[in-house]
Amino acid sequence: MPRPKETRQGNPVPEADVAAMFDSIAPVYDRVNTLMTAGGDGRWRRLAADATGLESGGSAIDVACGTGKLSSALAERVGPFGRVVGVDLAPGMVAAAQQAYGDIVQLSFQVGNALSLPCADGEFDSATIGFGLRNLADFEAGFRELARAVRPGGRVVCLELSLPPQRGWGWLFRSSFGRLAPLVASAFGHGREYRYLPTSLDGFPDAATLAATMRSAGLVDVSFRRLGLGAVALHVGRAPGIGVPGR
Ligand SMILES: C[S@@+](CC[C@H](N)C(=O)[O-])C[C@H]1O[C@@H](n2cnc3c(N)ncnc32)[C@H](O)[C@@H]1O
Repeated sequence: MPRPKETRQGNPVPEADVAAMFDSIAPVYDRVNTLMTAGGDGRWRRLAADATGLESGGSAIDVACGTGKLSSALAERVGPFGRVVGVDLAPGMVAAAQQAYGDIVQLSFQVGNALSLPCADGEFDSATIGFGLRNLADFEAGFRELARAVRPGGRVVCLELSLPPQRGWGWLFRSSFGRLAPLVASAFGHGREYRYLPTSLDGFPDAATLAATMRSAGLVDVSFRRLGLGAVALHVGRAPGIGVPGR
């Protein structure tokens, strides 16, 4: 599967189609993920939660929260006196999250769009997006909105699939991922929907380019680390302003 020459600035698939696709896979999403990543996804989400630097009593918004796994890891960090809000475009995903974690007092979920978050400027200590960014119509606008949601100096954390930098392994990863995702999902009767997943990586910015996009969106102190042999990247940046040295 050759890498497309053009790096995309956003997902060309209409939002309504993206939401409908995730609604339809909501019941099998967690199981397919765990199988496809051999359980690695749980560890990556925990690292993303750690990267927020959140402490007991803190607050976070988890954007594109899906079934709420990253949101619940954040809720664990902030504890019962903290506050975590999970937001997702697909009502089916939000319903699954509510069903799984509705009893955690510091955690709530709502339907909403990452490009127009239902929150005030600087409302949260941190904002996260896990495996959600590549679905957005405009990646930079997504980061601008995440930056808007956090207080000055607050961390924005993005966990996302990436392209391994080594050419051979990158090629192997893309071709096997393109086949594996629909194959695993077809065992659950959702092979057709899961064809979207590998195509959503076509032209997605590599980790260094994504870091540059975060800086263009106004974030500072941007860094990233590769996980899963480079198949996943964890990016962290800060909203500018008071509390950020040198700004
Ligand atoms: C691959 S899932 C990731 C879910 C979860 N964060 C996780 O770690 O498993 C991507 C999620 O992004 C959501 N999504 C796609 N476009 C969105 C948008 N514009 N605003 C909010 N959520 C969106 C989808 O509904 C889906 O639940």
